[in-house]
This record gives sequence, structure tokens and C-alpha cells, in this order.
Amino acid sequence: MIPRDTIEKILEATRIEEVVGEFVNLKKSGKNFKGFSPFTNETNPSFYVSPSKNIFKCFSSGKGGNAVSFLMEHEHFTYPEALRYLARKYNIEIEEEQQTPDEVREMNEREALFHINAFAQKYFSDQLLNSEEGRAIGLSYLKERDFREDIIRKFELGYSPKEWEAFSKYAIENGYKKESLVKSGLSVEKDNGQIYDRFRARVIFPIHNLSGRVLGFGGRILEKDDKKPKYVNSPESDIYSKSKVLFGLYFAKNAIIRDDNCYLVEGYTDVITLNQAGIENVVASSGTSLTSEQIRLVKRYSQNITILFDGDEAGLKASFRGIDMILEEGMNVRIVMFPEGEDPDSFVRNTRIAEVLEYLKNNTKDFIRFKTDILNKEVAGDPIKRATLIKEVVQTISLVPDGIFRTVYIRECSAILEVPEQTLMNELNKILRKKAYKKETKEEGVVENQESTDIKVVQKTDLDLNDSSYQERDIIRLLLNYSNDEIEVTEEDERKRPVTRKYQVGLVIMSDLGQDEIVLSHPGYRKIYQEYQKALQRDVLLDSDFFVNHEDDEIRSIAVDLLSSPYELSKNWTNKKIYVPTEKDRLWLTVQTSILALKSREIEKEIAENQKRIKEAENDNDLFMLLEEQKALKEISREINSKLSRIVTR
Ligand code: UTP
Ligand code: MN
Repeated sequence: MIPRDTIEKILEATRIEEVVGEFVNLKKSGKNFKGFSPFTNETNPSFYVSPSKNIFKCFSSGKGGNAVSFLMEHEHFTYPEALRYLARKYNIEIEEEQQTPDEVREMNEREALFHINAFAQKYFSDQLLNSEEGRAIGLSYLKERDFREDIIRKFELGYSPKEWEAFSKYAIENGYKKESLVKSGLSVEKDNGQIYDRFRARVIFPIHNLSGRVLGFGGRILEKDDKKPKYVNSPESDIYSKSKVLFGLYFAKNAIIRDDNCYLVEGYTDVITLNQAGIENVVASSGTSLTSEQIRLVKRYSQNITILFDGDEAGLKASFRGIDMILEEGMNVRIVMFPEGEDPDSFVRNTRIAEVLEYLKNNTKDFIRFKTDILNKEVAGDPIKRATLIKEVVQTISLVPDGIFRTVYIRECSAILEVPEQTLMNELNKILRKKAYKKETKEEGVVENQESTDIKVVQKTDLDLNDSSYQERDIIRLLLNYSNDEIEVTEEDERKRPVTRKYQVGLVIMSDLGQDEIVLSHPGYRKIYQEYQKALQRDVLLDSDFFVNHEDDEIRSIAVDLLSSPYELSKNWTNKKIYVPTEKDRLWLTVQTSILALKSREIEKEIAENQKRIKEAENDNDLFMLLEEQKALKEISREINSKLSRIVTR
């Protein structure tokens, strides 16, 4: 039991935005924060956090409450567990009143496993740091490997004594049942019913879930013994499934978000040594080959994975599967190889940190270069093998879900392998067609035909509030027609002197809308907009040809439609040499107006949605938060509209 005054202390220290922020990407919105609901799969953010009231509210699921209820909802914690989590986060010591053996017995099974693991972790750590045997054998081993004490504590490493049943005995004494000890894998049952410690005489690496609870353990043998496995791991249980866990992710997630990249290594010790060197965005799949579940865990935090490989060739071919799987998830994968005979652990330990960073910088290859480099060595002059190689690389590229990225990779591949781009493209299309055919026959030919209806919507002239396709159409039209045009604009510099600056239309539009994270609602326009976005991530500003020749029918037809502009002047006018200002002449104003018009419509939509929520608000807390939000939205709306009227009346 947690004493009453401790609970109060915990709740006082708790900042809801910090707690929720660990699980939801929150953006400031007026006095509140806003984000996508973690409880539903929504496309418009309707999840609010109010720091002043210390509550959250999810308008798409109706859930709401304080930090404790958030953790109970999101992490499926019990009440005391949520409190313990917060206590740990805010460094508040809980002097727990001892649980009676009866209380221990009453816990449900999953909870019992978590509880046993937490208990075991504390025991192993205590043995490592405080017992004579643990310090002499375990701690000295870790120190020999240059593990610092702060890192040993951070990862909660431990030591399991040599005695056959040291832990099992201690656990039974503390009220744990034999069955749960066996179920957790901490103890192994012999034929005669007696139990002994699975991890005896090993250093212990706890494996944490995303909220820092211990799911299982890895135990490393201390001296070399060919008869015994180097590592023993917890068996699968109700809480531990090795294919769904990444070692180190709990400690890495913030750094992964910050660096927008995740390093993937093979072993426990690699993760720890890199952490010690200050490289914290690192995880290990430890003991299994990489699974898509593990990849998706990383994807919550970043689109980028960099695999760090030992310098031995044996595992390399096996690594290809991992690369393919990451690409299939639509993520970017890069690879670093370490020198022959070194793994990340040994390399980092023996190298100055500045050099490690330099090494990582200079030796990171994208998957195409990595794969071709390796395969190239094998084929050396054999034309048939070379053809197989090319097919293999294109096969990998075909796994990338995004068309633009595929095109970019094909281009790179063509340069490296010295094969014409078109040849590779043909091969790629062959593979893609085959896949599409397979998919189609699987779905028994049920193909929706949405295109024609979408395009009709575009031409509608009476606009209701939920339809911003007119504004969206205008933006896409400007992008397609003028993306690469430069406009000269006279502005004032810091000292109010006039300066002329040049802007590229496409960049102006994309960065302005990007800042406000505008998402287009019309599916066709959205596709085009997203193509621009993705290309810009690679510093490419697409031109209209890309869309006119696009493989997607809808994109092609919209592009053609919007490029055959109704704004073209009739020949008569120009022939008569009468000057009429064309759209091009006043392009800057047109671009500014269109951007603001779209933003204005977006904000009006949000205001209307929020208004609806205000009407339906169920209690004062919700109402208060929504009204604050409404005030903030209206303020933004006023700003946009005043800018707009300044431009229009100029
Ligand atoms: P390694 O043999 O590379 O171990 O196996 P390591 O982590 O580098 O450890 P040190 O540096 O030799 O102490 C990589 C990973 O494979 C799993 C472990 O998760 C290990 O971290 N493994 C390895 C096992 O599960 N069982 C084994 O017997 C060996
Ligand atoms: Mn190693």
C-alpha cells in the first residue's frame, strides 16, 4: 500500500503534459496542448491536454481525466502501478507498507508476473551492488568491461548468485507462489517438483517495456564455457514475447524522437556501451531476428533506422531480410559496417567518442549502396550472376511503398551498377505489376471507382463549410503551374531599407502550409500535395511533368485539368498589344491570397467543430477547456483574415 501523503506528493509533482507527452505527440494550442488521440485512429486531432487544469480530454473516444487515469487507460496500469510510475518519473520515494502474503496472492496473473519481475530485478541489483559475491564476481566483471556505475544503475543490471536456489528461496519466503515463479521463468522446475534459479551465476540484463516495467531478463555467463549458452533469456510468458520487444527502447525513445533516427544493434552490451558513449537512440532485437512488430515499435518515434553491423561477413546475407522488412514498413533504412572483428560494443569501447561519431558519419550507407557493394564483390565479372544481382536489388526497391522514393532509388541504383535507368524501371514495373495482379486476384476484383466522383466535387461552385476543395484546388493549381517560378519581392530588411528577395513559388507554398501542418481533405489533391511533401524531404521540388506522367490515374487527370488553365489570355488580347495584367504578373499576391484563403477555411472548420463540442460538453472541466481553445482559434482566425483583407485591398 502507498501511504496517503505520498500519493498527494506524487499528484502534486505530476505535470499532465509531461506524462501524456511520453505517449502522444502534443503541440501547443493556445493555453492547451493538442494531439491525435492515442485511443482512436483519427485524422483530425481532437485530443486535448490542459496544463492549468492538469487534465486530458479525448473528444473522439470521450475519455478524460488526470495523469493517473491516463496511465490506467493507456498503459492498462492498475491504480497503484500508475502511482508508482509517476513516483519514479518524478523521483519521489515510496515507502511502501509491506504487502502481506495474502495480498500478494490476490493479484491477478499478469500483474503477478510484473510484480515478480520487479521483485526479482530489485533482488538481482541488490546482489550485484551490495553482496560480497555479487561485487566480487558480477560487478568486477562489468567494471572490467568498462561499464560505468551510473549506466549499470540506469539499465538496472544485476547479478544472480551461484547457489542453485538463492533467488527461488528468497521469493517463496516473500509470499510468491512456486507456480508463478515457474511461469515467469525465473525458476525452473525439476522432475521431482523442486525448483532452481534459471539465471544462477550470471549477470542480469532486465528487459523493459515502454513504460519501464520489467518484462523479462537476459543473463550472461561470466566465464567462457562452450557447454553452456552465453546468454539465457526469460521464456515467453503472458507478459513477455521476445518478437514484440526491443531491448533498450524504453531508454531510447526520447533520443529517437530528438535525433529522428534509431540505431539497431545485435546485443545487450552494444546498447549499453553506446549509451555510455552518449549515443542513446539505440535498441537491440536481442536473440531473435528482427520482426515487423519490432520495426513498428520504432516507427512510433521515427521513420529512420540505422542498422549497425559487426564486421563479420557471415551475418550479412541474413541482414538483407531485416532491410527488406524495414523498407516494407515504409521506413528509411541505412547501414553502418564496423571493421573486421569488431562489434559496436568493442569498437566504441576502443575508440574515442569523437572518432566514433566521425566513423558513423562517414560509414553510413543507404541500403542500395550497402547491398550492391556486398553483392558486387561476389559477382566479380560473371555476367549471369550480375544479372541476378541487379534483379535482387530491384526486388528490394519494389518493396518501398512510396513511388517517389522508388524512383530516386532506381536512379541511384542505375548510377552505381551502370545500368540504364529505363532498364531498371522496366524490371521494377514488371515486379509491381505482378504484385498488383496477385493482390487483385486475392481481393476477387472488387475495385472501387472513386475517381470520377471526386473530380465532380471539384467543379462544384456552391461551397459549404465542410468543403474547402475550392481553396485546395487553387493551391494545387498554383503548385502545378508555377512551382519552379521565381518571384522577386521587394521587402524591408531589419533596418527598414527596401531589399529585393527571390522566392520559389513551390517552396513558399509548401513551407507556409507545412508550418501549420495543413492536411488537404480532398483525396486527389491530398495525393498530389503529399507527393510534393515527400519529394521536398529529399530536397526535390517536383515539376508538372512528374504529375502528368504519374502512374496514378487520378493524379494524372487532375494535373492535366489544372494545367490547362482557364486563365490563359486569348490570342486577341496579346495581338492587339493591349496590356492586361496576367496571373503571372501578380503571382506573389495570388500565392499569398490562396495560402491565406485555405488557412482561413481550415480554421473556420476547426472553429465549427469545436463549437459542436462546446454544445455537447458534459461537464465544467471540458467546457472550460473548449472555450479556451475556441478563444485561441478565433484569435488565429482574426489574424488570418486581417492579413487577407490587407492583401486584397492593396
Ligand atoms: P552476442 O554473442 O553478440 O552477444 O549476441 P553480446 O551482446 O555482444 O554480448 P558480449 O559482448 O559477448 O558479452 C548478441 C545477442 O544475441 C542474444 C543476446 O540477446 C545477445 O545480446 N544471444 C546470444 C542469446 O540470446 N543467446 C546466446 O547464447 C547468445
Ligand atoms: Mn559483444
